Amino acid sequence: MHRVTVALPALEYPILIGAGLLPDLGQELRAIGLTGRLAVVQDAAVADRYGSAVLTSLGEAGYRAVSITVPSGEESKSLDQLGRLYDAFAGAGLDRGSAVVSMGGGVVGDLAGFAAATYTRGIPFVQVPTTLLAQVDASVGGKTGIDLPAGKNLVGAFHQPRLVLIDLDTLSTLPERDYRAGLAEVIKYGIIADPELFGFLEQNRDAVLRHDSDVVEHLVVRSCQIKAEVVVEDEREAGRRAILNYGHTIGHAVEATAGYGVYLHGEAVAIGMAAAGRLSSRAGWLSEEDRARIERLIASYGLPVRLREPLEPEALVAAMRLDKKSRGGELRFVLARGIGQVEMTPVDEGLAREALAAGQPELT
Ligand SMILES: NC(=O)c1ccc[n+]([C@@H]2O[C@H](COP(=O)([O-])OP(=O)(O)OC[C@H]3O[C@@H](n4cnc5c(N)ncnc54)[C@H](O)[C@@H]3O)[C@@H](O)[C@H]2O)c1
Ligand SMILES: [Zn+2]
Repeated sequence: MHRVTVALPALEYPILIGAGLLPDLGQELRAIGLTGRLAVVQDAAVADRYGSAVLTSLGEAGYRAVSITVPSGEESKSLDQLGRLYDAFAGAGLDRGSAVVSMGGGVVGDLAGFAAATYTRGIPFVQVPTTLLAQVDASVGGKTGIDLPAGKNLVGAFHQPRLVLIDLDTLSTLPERDYRAGLAEVIKYGIIADPELFGFLEQNRDAVLRHDSDVVEHLVVRSCQIKAEVVVEDEREAGRRAILNYGHTIGHAVEATAGYGVYLHGEAVAIGMAAAGRLSSRAGWLSEEDRARIERLIASYGLPVRLREPLEPEALVAAMRLDKKSRGGELRFVLARGIGQVEMTPVDEGLAREALAAGQPELT
């Protein structure tokens, strides 16, 4: 088992990573000192497969737990589901000594985390991520929240988990498309912070796509280390944490403009990272060689580097203006100076439009 520590000054917490860890959940919760009742919030698809193993482990460790199942899919990051959780917490008599455990992907983690952040003004929260995307990204760092009809992640709170327990075995049942979408965020870590990880992904493509267990473990551990390091330096995104948004300004615009669900988050981020590479080279920041290397790596994992269907440029630009990094209508992007080195910068709208135009499907 690997242990990565998120060494925040106010509250340090461990990320435990290994195969077959689910049955240890009860003991690990005892180890961090949780003593009260537990609400286990589970994605429906995950509850079917892993729910009983988890509830058995909690029971054996002496916990009283109530299990709440949430329908799979982004639509569950809603006020409706949030209300359901609050009612279930209150109905089960949860109080300030209780804790919430989320089991599933980023959807359930964000939703249950926000419920934990706000129920009785905040109770402890534990993440058990079961998608690659949540294991390498969403479960670490304390961003929680829900969507509104007007936009994604518009309501939320910073609420760090007390523990993240990653059982790599849960990935065995994850659909391949979701696995590859998670790899987009791993590629992102290579581009923003770690040329060695980038090279590893270039050299070990076949093993990664074969789900070789040692290789997957390395990717998850390294990704968690990078995310932990960035979050510790800048928990509330006053500065450096923004680099985690590489590829996301355009990626979020693609998700929203195409309609949520048309592209998985990781697929939209892949398109956004390729576009940000083009933008970086047009701005004179990134060599043509490195731009092409980034695009080649993304494509080699079966991820898109262009839109599958054309999207209206005006709608994309309008969506980018809504990005939380924009200020007073000015577009701001995280751009690359080289592999492993990125910075946030204002970007001229004309340049952004050119990079977007190059991301439209190729005419055949
Ligand atoms: N808080 C953060 O820092 C952060 C970071 C990145 C993304 N996110 C959010 O995460 C969400 C996306 O997360 P996601 O990609 O994990 O999607 P998800 O939670 O929707 O899970 C993807 C699919 O996989 C299924 N599933 C989950 N685990 C499974 C398993 N082990 N076996 C079989 N099926 C399984 C789910 O039912 C779902 O259909 C978005 O809402 C995004 O905004 C948050
Ligand atoms: Zn992302």
